[in-house]
Amino acid sequence: MSFAFPASFLFGTATSATQIEGMTPPSDWLAFAQQAGRVAQGHTPERACEHWERWQEDVALQKSLQLNAHRLSLEWARVEPVEGHFSHRVWDRYRLELGALKDAGIATMVTLHHFTLPPWLARAGGVCATRFPARLARFATHAAEALGDLVDHWITVNEPNALVALGYLFGVWPPGKSGRIDRFLLGQHRLLEAHTRAYRALHHTLDRRSAAVSVGLAQHLRALVPARENAKADHLALEIQQRMFNRYILDALVTGESASLTHRLLSAGTTFRVKDAKGCQDFIGINYYSRARTRFGFTKATYLAPPTDSGLEANDLGWEIYPEGLGDVLIDWGQKSKLPVFVTENGIADATDAKRPAFIVRHLEQVQRALQAGIDVRGYFHWSLLDNFEWAEGYKARFGLVEVDYRTQQRRPRPSAYLYSQIASSGRLPKASDHN
Ligand code: FCB
Repeated sequence: MSFAFPASFLFGTATSATQIEGMTPPSDWLAFAQQAGRVAQGHTPERACEHWERWQEDVALQKSLQLNAHRLSLEWARVEPVEGHFSHRVWDRYRLELGALKDAGIATMVTLHHFTLPPWLARAGGVCATRFPARLARFATHAAEALGDLVDHWITVNEPNALVALGYLFGVWPPGKSGRIDRFLLGQHRLLEAHTRAYRALHHTLDRRSAAVSVGLAQHLRALVPARENAKADHLALEIQQRMFNRYILDALVTGESASLTHRLLSAGTTFRVKDAKGCQDFIGINYYSRARTRFGFTKATYLAPPTDSGLEANDLGWEIYPEGLGDVLIDWGQKSKLPVFVTENGIADATDAKRPAFIVRHLEQVQRALQAGIDVRGYFHWSLLDNFEWAEGYKARFGLVEVDYRTQQRRPRPSAYLYSQIASSGRLPKASDHN
C-alpha cells in the first residue's frame, strides 16, 4: 500500500565525472579506453555529454524536473593533475555548478573517487598502492576547503568492491588484471583504509565550520541466489560472495570486524586494522541494480557471479530486474547499522524506456517497504540523469532519464523522467501496474 514519502525525502539523480563531463584529462580510464579492444565499439569518454561546458543547461533541466537532490563526482585527474598540485580553476568550475544546484533548491552529494585515477597515482600502483589512502585523504582535505560550504553529503569512494573485482579479477576495467585474487582483497582493504582516512579528513576540516557534516561511501550490493537450489557448492559460492564482495567493507564500518577469514589474515600483514574502521560513516550508501546467481567453480566467478540469462525480466545489458532485493538490503543494513540510509544509485539500461517507468515505481515501493519497517531512508538517487559513458560497455547502454543524442548533444527527457518528476513533486507513487 503506497503512502506519502517524508517531506524531507531526497529524490535525486546520480552521475559521475568521467561518464558525462567530456574534455577528459589524462587518467587511467582514458588511457585504458584508448587501448584497442578494451571498450565496446572502441568508445572513449573524451567527449561524453560535454557536461563540463553544458552544465548550466543540465542544471536547468534538473530544476525543470523538480528534483531536489543530485549526486556528482569530482574528476580527481582534473583537480590534481600533478601530484600535490591542485587546480584553482577547476575548483572554481565545480563551485559554479554546485552553487547553481544549491540556488535551484537541489541538495548536493559529492563523490571524491568514482573509479578513475590521475595517471601519477595509477603509475604508483593505483588503489593497491601503500600511499593511496594518504593521497585520498589529502584530496579530501583540499575538496573540503574548496567546496565544503556547497556540499550537503560526501561520498569518499564509489563501489570499492566492484572496482577491484572488475579491475583485478575480471580485467575489464583498469588496470586490466585478471584472476588476481590477492589484489582483489588487498585493493578492498586499501580502499577501506582510504575511506576511513578521508572520512576523518573531511570531518577534521569541516567540523570546525559547520554543524552537519555527513560522510559515507557508496557500496555496490547484489541480491544473491544459488544457481542450483540443491547444490551445496552453489550455496558455498553465495556465502563467499556475501562475505568477500557484499559485506566486507560495510561489516568493517559497522562492527569493526570482518566475516572474511582471508581479509582477517591479510589485515594482519598491513598496518591498517579493520577494527580502526568502526564507526567511520554517518550514513550507509547503497548502489543496487540487480540479482545474481552464484555457481561454485575454481574460477573467478565464484567471487562475483556475472549476469546470466535467468529467463527473468532483465535490462538491456542482461541484468535481472529484482526490486525486492533493494528492500532487503535497505532493511538489512538499516537494522544492523541503525544509521540513516541513502540509495546512492539505482537505475536501468533501457534504450526504449519501455521498462524504466515500472522499474522506478517498483524500486521506490521497496524504499517504502523499508521506511515502513522503520528504516531511516533519507533519499533515492536515480542512475542516471543523462545517458552516459558506461565504462567497458561504452555509449550503447542507455541509463538516462534524459536521452542524449551524441551527434548533436541534444538532451530529450524520456517519459520516465516526467514520471519521476511527478513522484518527486507529489511525494507519492502511482501504481506499478499502471506503468507496465
Ligand atoms: C554502477 C557505477 C556507475 C554506473 C552504474 C550503471 O556500478 O557506480 O558508475 O556505471 O553502475
